[in-house]
Amino acid sequence: MTTLLTEQIYYDNNQLQIEACSISSIAEQIPTPFYCYSKARLLTNITHCKEAFENYGIDIHYAMKANSNLHILRLMNQQGLGVDMVSAGEMRRAEAAGIPANRMIFSGVGKSETELRQAIETGICQFNVESAEELALLASLMNEYTRPVNIALRVNPNVAVDTHKHITTGTKGNKFGIEATQTLSLFRQYADHPLLNMNGLAMHIGSQICDTAPYHQAISRLLELVNILEAEGMKVSSLDLGGGFGIDYGDGQKLSFEAVAKTIAEATTDFNGKVVIEPGRSLIADAGVLVSRVNYVKQAEPRSFLILDAAMNDLMRPALYQAIHPLVAANTTDYDSNAQSSELKSSELKSSELNSSELKRSELMNVDVVGPVCESTDTFARDYPVSSRTKAGDLMVFLCTGAYCSVMSSGYNSRDIIPEVMISNDEIQIIRQRITQDDLMKFEV
Ligand code: LLP
Repeated sequence: MTTLLTEQIYYDNNQLQIEACSISSIAEQIPTPFYCYSKARLLTNITHCKEAFENYGIDIHYAMKANSNLHILRLMNQQGLGVDMVSAGEMRRAEAAGIPANRMIFSGVGKSETELRQAIETGICQFNVESAEELALLASLMNEYTRPVNIALRVNPNVAVDTHKHITTGTKGNKFGIEATQTLSLFRQYADHPLLNMNGLAMHIGSQICDTAPYHQAISRLLELVNILEAEGMKVSSLDLGGGFGIDYGDGQKLSFEAVAKTIAEATTDFNGKVVIEPGRSLIADAGVLVSRVNYVKQAEPRSFLILDAAMNDLMRPALYQAIHPLVAANTTDYDSNAQSSELKSSELKSSELNSSELKRSELMNVDVVGPVCESTDTFARDYPVSSRTKAGDLMVFLCTGAYCSVMSSGYNSRDIIPEVMISNDEIQIIRQRITQDDLMKFEV
């Protein structure tokens, strides 16, 4: 049975805690909304991932797009992880966090000439090239350089993946990767290039995948290509299998590091070279929460609204992917039932039923959970059960918001970019200050 709360994010005495700090006490010091992370949870995730993959000699490159806060990147670096980057901006951050160039992989379907040059000059360990056109540009740029670069061709293995349509990337017709026959001809065409080391194949088939089957299928397709190339005398010395490992957002579905590591290790037993993965979400998502306050409980017909001070600009995933982030109260003292303070068993519930399984029906009201932004899509959840005692001023917390949340935030409606806070035991550290309108207006004339 899986639990949605963890050893590091849990209830104690009706108070939601992150490590040794209650959310309420943190919110006394830092105005809501803000993102808050558990350092211990992050380190636990990294350790689990390393234990699962490093046993098989598989290298881990953190897909830093999931959360590229400098403090978090430094932790990843201290733990010996490399990074998977998708822009010169990410490369700048990785460098600032002290990540060595020989642990940087550059992915992305539309790298600009400037970005390619910067990466060549930085001396990164691998370019994951996504088109014939990108490879041609890289080859022409290499006329100006002497140090060779390592190339992996990102293959589009054309596998179906059961996840949200906006986050599948390895199916025919997606903009990502290169189709199999073209991969072969590009590999052959550039095999003898003096400065392009045609080194490997790469894939990334999507995100929030909760099943090992598509990995198995996609790796088999990659290995078919490896066999063909090696039979022709070329060497494929690395396979980058991307990320995408799903986490439990409240419906009990996830892909454990152990399961996917075993699948990858088994599928690649006969492969004679380096295997790399690029997890993002699975390392950081459940280490983070978004803390917000109720501005109003708007009683209305035909539905009532819980209007929070957080909005779609702070947490975009519900508007963009219809994602549900479980919402819980930071303090359940006033509720009839103190059941929220017990462990929440996600396998028993769909995330939208999170509160209802713990509180008696009579103690619940169904609300649309919304933010203050002037858009109807500024809706976090519809018909969501919360305690009928919920009132203005209460702190409400979205769980599993460590990945693809803060990084996707914007300042729409001239709202501040909200702070990020790291908790380590009883220490509260602001790892990104609030970015205010005064800060932003400095760049405008
Ligand atoms: N490698 C590549 C080349 C990627 O494009 C991605 C994610 C990853 C690795 C890491 O995937 P992960 O392990 O985090 O699933 N904003 C969306 C997710 C977009 C993922 C994009 N690529 C969301 O909020 O669900």
